[in-house]
Parts: sequence; C-alpha cells; structure tokens
Amino acid sequence: MAPELQVRAFSAADAPAVAAIYNQGIAERIATFETEPRSPSTMAEQFGKRADTHPAIVVEQAGEVVAVAWTSEYRPRRAYAGIAETSVYVAKDARGQGLGRLALASVIDAAERKGFWKLVSRIFPENAASRRLCATLGFREVGVYHRHGKLDGVWRDCIIVERLLGEALNP
Ligand SMILES: CC(C)(COP(=O)(O)OP(=O)(O)OC[C@H]1O[C@@H](n2cnc3c(N)ncnc32)[C@H](O)[C@@H]1OP(=O)(O)O)[C@@H](O)C(=O)NCCC(=O)NCCS
Repeated sequence: MAPELQVRAFSAADAPAVAAIYNQGIAERIATFETEPRSPSTMAEQFGKRADTHPAIVVEQAGEVVAVAWTSEYRPRRAYAGIAETSVYVAKDARGQGLGRLALASVIDAAERKGFWKLVSRIFPENAASRRLCATLGFREVGVYHRHGKLDGVWRDCIIVERLLGEALNP
C-alpha cells in the first residue's frame, strides 16, 4: 500500500467528507436509486447507529478521505442475520487508482471478521467500474432484476451480486 494511504474505520469526524463522496454518487445517477443528498449529520447518525454491528471503512489519501465502503442490514429476519448489503464510493477525482478496491476489500475482511456469511449488492448494468470491481473481489453476478425501479422517471434494471464469506465458503 502506498505510504500516503491509510485504511481505517469510519469515525463521526469523517461524516462531511463521506457525505460529499456519497452525494457525488447520487448526482451521477450511476450508483444508487437515492436522489436526495445526505447531510453529514444524517450520515454520522446512520453509521453511528450500526457501528457495533456493521463495518464502515474509509481510505485516506494524503490525509484526505477519498473512499468509503460500508455494510448495512439486508433483512431483519433471523435466518438472514449473516447477510449484509454492501456499498462503496470513491471521490470522482480519486477513481481508477485502486482505492475502491482497497475500500471494498477492507470492508469484506471486516464483515468476515464480524461473522457475516454473505455480502450482497445491486449494481446498475451500465456501471462498468462497479461490476468490474466486484468481479475482481469475488462477487458473482446472480442475475438481473428487470425494471427494478424508476430513477428520474426512467426504468432501471439492477444486477444482484453476492459474495460468500467465512463459514458459507466451507460449510
Ligand atoms: C465503482 C467505484 C467504487 C470503483 O472504484 P475505483 O477506485 O475507481 O476502482 P479501482 O481503481 O479500485 O478499480 C477496480 C477495478 O475496476 C476496474 N475499473 C475501474 N474503473 C473502471 C471503468 N470506468 N470501467 C471499467 N472498469 C473499471 C479497474 O480496472 C479494476 O479492475 P482490475 O483490477 O481488473 O484492473 C468508483 O468508480 C465509484 O465510486 N463510482 C461511483 C459510485 C459507485 O458506482 N459505487 C458502486 C455502487 S454501490
């Protein structure tokens, strides 16, 4: 890892930078169905609420937070307790340098250490960077949800991806 890079757990002080990175992703319309920008305080509150159960990782480059990855609840049902949703966002100017890979790989490790047995995510088919990133880190494309939702009034498909972890790899 380059000396100017640091990978560490999210803390509340990172909320402004993380909100700015996530809001870029919202504005691009390539990553999420979310359309409302998230405030730093909402971000801090959401990450704070699940701090004991779900990992959130940031990557700093030269002292600035440039990438973030986290997991969140998949479903409340007990049978699914070992499954988490995962997300990864890199600041626009910092993409294509391996930082998304670093953030997602770190959150995969952290989720495995917490005992999760599967990560899932949904990716828009046209999000080539995310599909490639997930594929290189061992996610499998399960299938396509057709017309899964409307973004700005336009139907969008979603590819579901999954990655087994821990005990699910060697049952
Ligand atoms: C998707 C995203 C996280 C990738 O992060 P990144 O730091 O740019 O990606 P990396 O540099 O770590 O590259 C990871 C892999 O993706 C490939 N990749 C990166 N950008 C790509 C692009 N635009 N098209 C195709 N492949 C691409 C890289 O070549 C690399 O593959 P390799 O290991 O085979 O060489 C980043 O583009 C992003 O934040 N996008 C907006 C938010 C988003 O879409 N998040 C995912 C949805 S939850």
